[in-house]
Amino acid sequence: MSEIKYSWQDDAVFLDQKLQNYSKGAHYPFHMPGHKRTPLDFPNPYSVDITEIDGFDNLHYAQGILKEAQDRAAQIYGSEETFYLVNGSTAGILSAISTALPRLSTLLMSRNSHRSAYHAAYLRGLETVYLLPAPTKFGISGSVSPAHVAQALEDLPQIAGVFITSPTYDGVVSDIRTIAEIVHAYDLPLIVDEAHGAHFLFSDSFPDSAIDCGADLVIHSLHKTLPCLTQTALLHVNSDRIDKNALKRFLSIYQTSSPSYLLMASMEQCMRFLKEEGETKMSEFSLRLNTFYQQAKSFKHLTVFDKSTCQPEECFDHDPSKILISVGDSGLTGKKLYQKLLHNYQLQMEMCTGHYVTALTSLMDTSDGFRRLSSALKEIDDSIKVAPQQSKTSNVIIHGSRTGGRTKLLTSNVIYQNPKPQMPIALAMEQPSEVLSLKASTGHISQEYVYLYPPGIPLIAPGEILTGKLLAIIEQCQKHGLSVEGLSDMANQSIQVVKQ
Ligand SMILES: Cc1ncc(COP(=O)(O)O)c(C=O)c1O
Repeated sequence: MSEIKYSWQDDAVFLDQKLQNYSKGAHYPFHMPGHKRTPLDFPNPYSVDITEIDGFDNLHYAQGILKEAQDRAAQIYGSEETFYLVNGSTAGILSAISTALPRLSTLLMSRNSHRSAYHAAYLRGLETVYLLPAPTKFGISGSVSPAHVAQALEDLPQIAGVFITSPTYDGVVSDIRTIAEIVHAYDLPLIVDEAHGAHFLFSDSFPDSAIDCGADLVIHSLHKTLPCLTQTALLHVNSDRIDKNALKRFLSIYQTSSPSYLLMASMEQCMRFLKEEGETKMSEFSLRLNTFYQQAKSFKHLTVFDKSTCQPEECFDHDPSKILISVGDSGLTGKKLYQKLLHNYQLQMEMCTGHYVTALTSLMDTSDGFRRLSSALKEIDDSIKVAPQQSKTSNVIIHGSRTGGRTKLLTSNVIYQNPKPQMPIALAMEQPSEVLSLKASTGHISQEYVYLYPPGIPLIAPGEILTGKLLAIIEQCQKHGLSVEGLSDMANQSIQVVKQ
């Protein structure tokens, strides 16, 4: 039996103390949550930490103050009905898919979706058919094409509903208005995971909200881009294609039976803040973003993603609050740039991948924070000694290893190979299994997920074939220091596959 170690000694790192130290530190948060550790006017958490006691409403049977609070959120977002989520967008996505599609039916979904959509497919025994996002010159996954949605619906009459992630973690938005028209022509429900776009509605500087574009169900993580506590999210219903009683049933299955009033009060306060100050704060935020993007144009090597460099089929629209900084021809990798920003400039980014880092910004970011980011990037850019080749944008699509002074980068276009499913997720996971070393698993059907976290999009999902190319990419991701997760073997040496 392995020995379990409990350390209560002086050198033990306790969570609460680590958090306190972090909050006192000089690191500037270009990451979630969107409140950026700036408190709104909120009481001491211990003094108001309750769940459903006498005199307070029950989230799963809301009739009083929670019903009113949810109605106010619906009014702000212009939806028919809005539900508070205390278990993040994850609970909203699980509930939305479970409600909108019959068990064992077929879901048409964008392949670059968060793992919660895959988990919903697993739980409901759904067959998944994937929409592949367009590749972009920048190396990130682009938009889902409405024409692909139309083609899939024409070819596969068994499709019972459509799920699109828009914006993606990178801020890429698809043409939801056109997609909604196509899906509704078949009288099917359209679910949009707009977890990263809860702020869209509050300014014209951002893409249109999926609610306005006609999606039937829309999920928003308030905590990602707005001043709200972690785990807070909203689920909006916008049509009578959705059975609201079934939705409430699934919400009560997937969410805790002890919803935190702290989280719910934080949502209500966020809504009030947006109603009272949203317009002003959003326009100040847009100005800061514009200034940043203008300054970034002077970089010689680093490249900041700009949707105007893409064709509309590649990227229909982009949320500028997600700042993607590609290492371009600098000779850096995403991880190296991330570490430089963290260690030399105390700027904590949201994430990095093979060739870029992401700064998540919100209306709570300060002018000083933006100044720190642009001057750090300028200094790094100025310190790069590689002679620029061609144009900056054409350099970012190179991938592979380093040769002749040109750094070849591991882009998202390379990482996400979109392997073909051989069987539905649930069926694959329930087959007899065997554990193989990763190297020996070529040609086998996976029973596990492998994803980079963040963003949590599967490189491989259960039911898909492990190819040599995919395994080589997983190895490269590890070499680049990216966080490869999902396997039950946390050392990423072995994988559970369907027994042959
Ligand atoms: C696109 C997308 N959808 C959904 C989620 C899940 O959101 P939450 O963390 O609020 O459960 C994430 C999380 O990162 C995400 O990136």
